[in-house]
Amino acid sequence: MPKLIVVNREGAESAIDVEDGLTVMEAIRDNGFDELLALCGGCCSCATCHIQVDPAFASKLPEMSEDEDDLLESSDHRNDTSRLSCQIPFTGELDGLKVTIAPED
Ligand code: FES
Repeated sequence: MPKLIVVNREGAESAIDVEDGLTVMEAIRDNGFDELLALCGGCCSCATCHIQVDPAFASKLPEMSEDEDDLLESSDHRNDTSRLSCQIPFTGELDGLKVTIAPED
């Protein structure tokens, strides 16, 4: 099973196995990371699933939609690697992807 590496807000790193068909947000949430609130359940309307993604994987990620871009703009912690994790389907190609849960806004 492909692995996702998650760095929590304390800086602790964990590797989790991700089932087929989940988004990065679902994989993080289903593995008990309560700090990723994902309040809207993945419909791209809350920005509480904000993560920062290892730049080495940037070219493998789906393009950002205008809605995602607008929502990220509302975060004080946005940087060049910011994404909403609910907008990234986790595919085998992303095996080993490292993401950091962004600080709370
Ligand atoms: S879960 Fe709300 S925008 Fe991702």
